[in-house]
Parts: sequence; C-alpha cells; structure tokens
Amino acid sequence: MSAVPDAPLQNYRAEFAPMTANALDAVMAIEQAAYAYPWTRGNFADSLRAGYEGRLLRTSERLLGYYMAMKGVDEVHLLNITVAPDCQGQGLGACLLESLAAWSLAQGAQWLWLEVRASNEGAQRLYQRQGFRRVGLRKGYYPAGPGPREDAIVMSRPL
Ligand SMILES: CC(C)(COP(=O)(O)OP(=O)(O)OC[C@H]1O[C@@H](n2cnc3c(N)ncnc32)[C@H](O)[C@@H]1OP(=O)(O)O)[C@@H](O)C(=O)NCCC(=O)NCCS
Repeated sequence: MSAVPDAPLQNYRAEFAPMTANALDAVMAIEQAAYAYPWTRGNFADSLRAGYEGRLLRTSERLLGYYMAMKGVDEVHLLNITVAPDCQGQGLGACLLESLAAWSLAQGAQWLWLEVRASNEGAQRLYQRQGFRRVGLRKGYYPAGPGPREDAIVMSRPL
C-alpha cells in the first residue's frame, strides 16, 4: 500500500491498495451505482484470477474508486475506471489515471489504451486532459438497451 501525495486527496487521507477478492462487495456497490451496464462480480473475479492489475483508492472508512487494467506487450489496456458517484468531479479520476500511468511505466509499457462510450463526454474530457487522443472507433461495441448498440471511441496516450 502506498500513500498518495496528490493535493486533491489530502482531504480524504486516501491510499492506493491492490484490489483483492475481499474488496468485491465494496467494488460492486460502486460499480452498480455508477453504470447503467455495470461489470458483473464475475468480470472482476475473472480479471483478478487472470492476473490483471486491479487497484483501489480508499480511505480507512470507505472505497472511493478503482481501476482494472491488463498488460499487453508494450501497452497497458485500461478495462475499467470508476469513482464513487458522490466523490466524482474532485480530481480522483485524474489521480487514478496518474497511478495507472506510473504503474504502466514501471511495467515497461509505452502506451495506454482504452475504450469509452461515445456518449460519455465527461470521461473523454478527463482522458484528453490526461494526454489521451482518439485513435479509432469500434462500431456497436457497447450494449445500449433496446436500441442499437453504442459505439466505442478508442483512445491512447504515450507514456
Ligand atoms: C469518469 C470518472 C472515472 C472520472 O472520475 P472523476 O473523479 O469524476 O474525475 P475528475 O474529478 O478527475 O475529473 C472530472 C471533472 O472534475 C473536475 N475537477 C477535477 N478536480 C476538481 C476539483 N478539485 N474541484 C472541482 N472540480 C474538479 C475536472 O475538471 C473534470 O471536469 P469536466 O468534466 O468539466 O472536464 C468518473 O466520473 C466515473 O466513475 N464515472 C462513471 C463511470 C465511467 O464513466 N467510467 C469511465 C468509463 S470509460
């Protein structure tokens, strides 16, 4: 576990910690509150079993957010990043992305990749501020209720 030096987190006395199976009740509570189409508990458990990098941002009292990422050859693919709805808009998403970038660099990765819903403009703004650029489009990538599936924008940033 490591202390977090970033200014927005001082108010929270927050720390990063590895995501383990013990954390999945708290993770799922945030996941289900944050998305219309959340990951299942099985998605997280499978990711942990596969050795993906799951990281929590938490205080001694509660979970604030988390990410899950998969290392490839010279890139890391961000699979999920989520901040608890009542904690969004305070810089925690940016802190999670900075932590991911530092971990990815330490793994020897040269690129970060992610997909984001075309309608998720808030997340896209955050990714752009963090140096991501749009590099592609996956048509009909996400479920979207009874209507047509939603496109994913593919973004990447060099490390
Ligand atoms: C996307 C997500 C992870 C971003 O996390 P976040 O903690 O809200 O992100 P940040 O606070 O770092 O940045 C978001 C906004 O807060 C603003 N902000 C950052 N620090 C701030 C502060 N100290 N005070 C006020 N506003 C601040 C940013 O400028 C940004 O504003 P913008 O939307 O106008 O560009 C989060 O909103 C989330 O979990 N959303 C639901 C799930 C989701 O969409 N995940 C991404 C799927 S690809």
